[in-house]
Amino acid sequence: MKRVIAIYPGTFDPPTNGHLDLIYRGAKIFDELVVAILRNRDKVPLFCVEERLEMLRECTRQWDNVRVESFSGLLVDYARECGAQAVLRGIRAVSDYEYELQMAWMNRKLDPSLETVFMTPAGAYSYLSSRLVREIASLGGDLGDLIPASVAARLRARLGVVPQTHK
Ligand code: PNS
Repeated sequence: MKRVIAIYPGTFDPPTNGHLDLIYRGAKIFDELVVAILRNRDKVPLFCVEERLEMLRECTRQWDNVRVESFSGLLVDYARECGAQAVLRGIRAVSDYEYELQMAWMNRKLDPSLETVFMTPAGAYSYLSSRLVREIASLGGDLGDLIPASVAARLRARLGVVPQTHK
């Protein structure tokens, strides 16, 4: 029987509940889902790749068909290496669409056999991004249901902030 393997690539700096929601949805429809963290030499991340691997592995261990890896170079090459037939990407709002479509078309040009599948996270995560999470955390804001508690603890420790109590 044909097994469908998909790659869910991203920066995940840090992983959010929106990412986890998409992983949950992807794990339901693909036989195997490879969450792939880009080793990007251009960006200076808050968390190194090894920390992000640890965080994502911790948060996804309940799904047997999900594994978390890192990659460098072209996504299409890594997808081929994994035997993946599809790339999973999340679209939160119309504003994501243009960038995602450009990537999907470019990846198709690079490898016409690789399909891009878009999924939307739960509506509650449509405004959520790693960038906003980093900003809120750095200002001591409530990270409540935006990221897993284990990620929030690491984030506060990294930024050296104590949570504020808002009255
Ligand atoms: O979470 P992000 O930052 O939106 O993820 C972007 C990512 C990692 C999916 C994209 O930058 C990527 O695939 N990079 C690998 C290099 C590559 O293949 N570039 C051409 C993409 S069309």
